[in-house]
Parts: sequence; structure tokens; C-alpha cells
Amino acid sequence: MSHSFPNLSAAEAALQINNGQTVAFSGFTPAGAPKDIPKAIAARAKEAHQAGQPYRIGVITGASTGKSLDGALAQAEAILFRTPYQNNPDLRKSINEGRTTFFDMHLSMLPQAVRYGFLGPVHWAVVEACNVSDSGEITLTSSVGAAPTFSHVADRIFIELNRYHPASLLGLHDIYEPADPPFRQPLPLCRADQRIGAPVIKVDPGKIAGIVETNAADEVGSFAEISGTTARIGDNVARFLAGERKRGLIPKEFLPVQSGVGDTANAVLKSMGECPDIPIFDMHTEVIQDAVIALMKAGKVRFAGGCSLTVSPPVLRDIYDSLDFFRPRLLLRPQEISNSPEIIRRLGIISINTAIEVDIGGNVNSTHVLGRNIMSGIGGSGDFARNAFLSIFTCPSTAKGGKISTIVPMVSHLDSSEHSVQIIITDQGVADQRGKSPMQRARAIIENCAHPDYRGLLTDYVALAGSSHSPQTLSDAFALHLTFSKEGDMRRAVFR
Ligand code: COA
Repeated sequence: MSHSFPNLSAAEAALQINNGQTVAFSGFTPAGAPKDIPKAIAARAKEAHQAGQPYRIGVITGASTGKSLDGALAQAEAILFRTPYQNNPDLRKSINEGRTTFFDMHLSMLPQAVRYGFLGPVHWAVVEACNVSDSGEITLTSSVGAAPTFSHVADRIFIELNRYHPASLLGLHDIYEPADPPFRQPLPLCRADQRIGAPVIKVDPGKIAGIVETNAADEVGSFAEISGTTARIGDNVARFLAGERKRGLIPKEFLPVQSGVGDTANAVLKSMGECPDIPIFDMHTEVIQDAVIALMKAGKVRFAGGCSLTVSPPVLRDIYDSLDFFRPRLLLRPQEISNSPEIIRRLGIISINTAIEVDIGGNVNSTHVLGRNIMSGIGGSGDFARNAFLSIFTCPSTAKGGKISTIVPMVSHLDSSEHSVQIIITDQGVADQRGKSPMQRARAIIENCAHPDYRGLLTDYVALAGSSHSPQTLSDAFALHLTFSKEGDMRRAVFR
């Protein structure tokens, strides 16, 4: 654990990061995200602003982070631009009020966009590690995300050496960075549990500007209790998958599963675990949540590869206390590999993500409320949905106590189009989009997935279109959204 790099306080590190510079932080979700240096940068920004001086930095990460990073920097008005994903309430507010520039990206594409120079120069990488050697070998903590690329591209590197994570994590990570075109080769990953890279990131030690020692848990929250609605969604997913296997449309040995983020995703995994007709399966996913670990302990998940261990602190403690059990069963990869379209296609992933709203044509909005305000971002949902063997989107049939139908005539923002979406599942049932015309899709979605309170309205909407190919009427397409904005309840919508 000893090293010869300068030991710095977080404030001393922050002093070296100048106004206008771009900082790429490790971490994917709060897992593996630095905590002390970003807080010190936020404090520095506040001081500068009080003295009437400008101070803002460009912030690039793997995905979302925790309150010490996105929260502290947003509160300090210290962010010049932010990409590729977020879900911190303070940052979200700042973005939706137009105070912070944010651009939402497919997470598989972020590392190459950084390497290609599309996001400008990266002056600093701030990387959380559980160990670093004098020769520049960095062992990451609970995520990989885009840390390898950030470390290679950045001019200088600060390491947050977080003693919360044991150095014995060595071997949990599989670091592989593809060459850039025209020299890129096929990715040599053919099985979910295959290792293709190195256990550490290797950098020129001369780039490491200093080490800040910390001891802090990841700022991962716990999940909401599984409700009747999310449990019904989970059961519908499990029943659908078991049925597909019985019909021979999913191989008997099953296929690797990707599961999205959030409470619905957690409930879906639990139901899949309890379904006797779904065999033991592997996961090739982005975020490994609590439910995956529970299924692994129950013997239902054999192996999980992902790019972050976004588990609550007690579950992470459990993993660290039983590393011998988990080491052969868990692998953390760069997001460029976990979310690679090439790998997703090759492995034949069953992809299950959550939508904010879905329209009667099967188009999915994963990111925006009423077309205006961003919730989190597309994350990996686009990477997986577009390339999956089977692409499923789930959501409760209503939101906000029934005042919002998540099944709408036309999505107010588009993330995954009808061409990438095959199955829609809500608490009401399952709509299979495969081999259906837009009119047939609309009927299936309304009858099987919409809440009964909205089926009549949506059926009336389809009737407006008459005999067109796609049942859309532009003058009324947003009637439900507009009614909610004006009257607070979509059920009051009337068509012209
Ligand atoms: N209109 C307005 N608000 C809506 C809504 C709609 N159509 N649908 C959901 N919401 C609100 C909910 O009311 C809830 O609000 P609250 O936080 O104020 O209670 C919030 O959105 C989250 O909804 P919830 O039902 O709790 O869903 P979740 O925890 O399962 O998360 C997403 C759902 C879509 C926000 C989340 O999955 C996400 O960010 N997805 C995009 C990224 C992604 O898919 N990543 C997967 C990577 S591999």
C-alpha cells in the first residue's frame, strides 16, 4: 500500500484545478466516485464566487455520481458543463432551470468520445482507487465506468485512495480499452464470464500529481419497498420470459440478462429469481444492484459482469466480507465493454429497462417529463435496447397517483424508437410489438398495458386517425400532456 507520490489534502489538490479546466472523475453511479476532492473543489468555487471571481469546471464522469460530487458542485454553481448522465436532485434542478449545461449521451459512447477529442481536452482525471503502485498501476474500487480512458487521456491524475475499499479487490476488474479506428479489432468477449483485459489501469506514474487519502462509503441509497404495482410488473416480466422459453423463442439454457436502474428494475429481478420456470442465469449488465447479489447468494444468478457495483452499503460490506465467494462470480468492466453494441448482439442479451412513458407506436421516453425536464438520462438503455436479443421496456401504467398515464398517444421526448423496442410490460400486462403494424401495436399496447382509466381515451385517439398507416393525429397528439399541464390530470383530456 505504500507509494511515493505526494500526499495531499483534498484542498491542496483542488487548488491545482483551475477555472475553466475539464475534470473527468471516476465512478459509475455513486459507486467508485471520488468524494473529498469534488467537495474541496466546490468549497474553492464558493470562495472564488464570494470574492467576485469566476470558477467553474467541465465535469465528465462515467454516469451519475453521489452527493459529494454532483450535489456539492451543483450547489456551489461550479459546473461549466456536465455529461453523460446524472440523477442528483440539486444538479437536476440546476439543469432544468437552465443554469447548468448538460448533454445526455449513450454511455457506451462516452469513453470513445473523450478519446476522439469530441469533448475537448481533459486536464485532470480524479480517480478513486483502493491501491496504486509506484509504477502507476491503479486498482479501482466499486466501479470501472470510464476511469481507464480518463486516466489515459487526462494531462494529470489525482488519486483518491479510499481505505474503505480493501486492496484485496485486485482481480475484481477487467480493464480493456479498444484501439481507435482505423485500428480497432473485434472485441474478444464471447461469454458473459470471460476475462479479456488486465486487473489494473496502467498509467505513466509521472502523470500522478498526488494522492488524497480518504475513508468513505459509496453514497448509494437504498431501494423503495417493492409495491403492489412494481411486484405486478415483475411478475408479468417473469411470466413472459418463462413463456418465451417454453415456446422455444429463448434457448432452454437461457440468455444473459441486462437489467436497468431503479425501483422497478429491482422488483423485476426479484420476480425473475422467484420464477421456477426461469433457470439459473448469467447477467451481462451495466449496473449491478442489490437484487443481483441476493439472487447470486440464492444460487439463481451464476455470474454477473457489469461496470459498477451499485449496491447499498450493507450489501457492499457483505461482498467485501465474502470476497472468496464473490470473486469468481463478479467482474467489473469498462462501460465501453459492458455496454458495447457488438458484445450485446453477440451474447444475445435479454434487455429490461424502465421507461418514463411509452407511446401507442411503441416509442420510449426514458428521460424527460412533459418533454421539458430531464429526469436522469438515457444511460445504457439505448445501448442495450437497440442491440438486444429481446428488448423489453417496463413501467407502471400510471404515475402521480393515476393523474398521468405512462401510455400516451405520442411520447413527449424520444429515446428508444419503435425499431429498438420489442416488448412493453406494465402492471396491467404485456404488449408484444414483434411483427405488428403500427395500428396492431397501438391496439395491443392500449388493451394490454394502459390503465383501465385511460383505455377509452386512447381508443378514441386511435379512432381519430381513421385509416392511416400509423394512428397519429398531430393536432391531438399531446392532448393528454397539455391537459396535465393545465389541469393536473390527464384523465380530463378531450380531443378536438
Ligand atoms: N410523467 C411524470 N413523472 C413520471 C412519469 C411520467 N410519465 N413516470 C415516472 N415519473 C416519475 C415518478 O412519479 C417518480 O417521481 P418521484 O421521484 O417524484 O416519485 C420518478 O419519475 C421515478 O419513477 P419510478 O416509478 O420511481 O421509477 P424508477 O425508480 O423505476 O426509475 C426511470 C425510472 C425511468 C427514471 C429510471 O429507470 C431511469 O432513469 N432510466 C433511464 C436510464 C436507464 O434506463 N438506465 C438503464 C441502464 S442500463
